Amino acid sequence: MAAPLPPTPVLVEFLGVHKAFGDNVVYENLDLTVMRGETLTIIGGSGQGKSVCLKLMIGLLRADAGVVRVGGEDLSTLDAAGLSRVRRRVAYVFQGGALFDSMNVLDNIGYAMREHTKMDDAAIETRARECLEMVAMPTDMLTMMPANLSGGQRKRVALARSIAIKPEVILYDEPTTGLDPRNITRIGDMIMKLQRELEVTSVVVTHDMPTARKVSNRVAMLYERRFPFVGTVDEIWNSSQPEVRDFVHGTLRRVGGPAAAGTEVRHGA
Ligand SMILES: Nc1ncnc2c1ncn2[C@@H]1O[C@H](COP(=O)(O)OP(=O)(O)OP(=O)(O)O)[C@@H](O)[C@H]1O
Ligand SMILES: [Mg+2]
Repeated sequence: MAAPLPPTPVLVEFLGVHKAFGDNVVYENLDLTVMRGETLTIIGGSGQGKSVCLKLMIGLLRADAGVVRVGGEDLSTLDAAGLSRVRRRVAYVFQGGALFDSMNVLDNIGYAMREHTKMDDAAIETRARECLEMVAMPTDMLTMMPANLSGGQRKRVALARSIAIKPEVILYDEPTTGLDPRNITRIGDMIMKLQRELEVTSVVVTHDMPTARKVSNRVAMLYERRFPFVGTVDEIWNSSQPEVRDFVHGTLRRVGGPAAAGTEVRHGA
């Protein structure tokens, strides 16, 4: 388990956020803070608004009311240039780890460098190699097409792509879904390594409770349009609140099976 971090300045802040799609009210008066350098994991049932939360943080969606601030900038007031400046600081690893299928690994990893920097081809390739090494992938994969990679490899290339322009914040949407246990462990290790070595702030959305437990400094549970429960891993795992217990331990049993369920009472394992 990642150790709780000392208090640090707020990097991402939601204040009184409302968001609806037609009659479907996703958030009412939602508050959340993410501290610089921490890994905060968002858990919650399907359709509760976890992905929408990440999309608000990178300005892919806008709040109907309330404030979303990233690095001190209020996203609702930003024009296209301002949003591009924020996206330079915040990387988003999509649900499903989507890569551009028509581009090879090098061009996938190089995409943000071309978009946001003036780096030339040689510098982009050098950086792409470094990023592949960071995610423990052989650099001879640079010329491969996504269709020829395994699911775990695609997720790691997606991670390499997200770190290419040295973001301050990485948003991960379900980074381990669909992977085998070995690759789930690997992705969790990567998230922790990137936090340690690049000092990034991470927001992880996951249904995978063992990964949440392993990588998080804090966990926030989305429930009925808000974050009523935010705390350290131990606070969430020991919570007596029925909704939290049901979710954390119920999901653990369903997803992890009996072996994973056995870990729920052993804290600090
Ligand atoms: N672009 C959109 N247009 C309309 N409705 C949307 C849009 N994006 C999300 N929603 C709705 O907002 C709600 C929250 O969606 P979101 O994708 O954030 O859920 P989630 O918690 O990520 O679920 P899952 O665990 O299944 O990925 C859902 O009811 C969804 O249908
Ligand atoms: Mg989602």
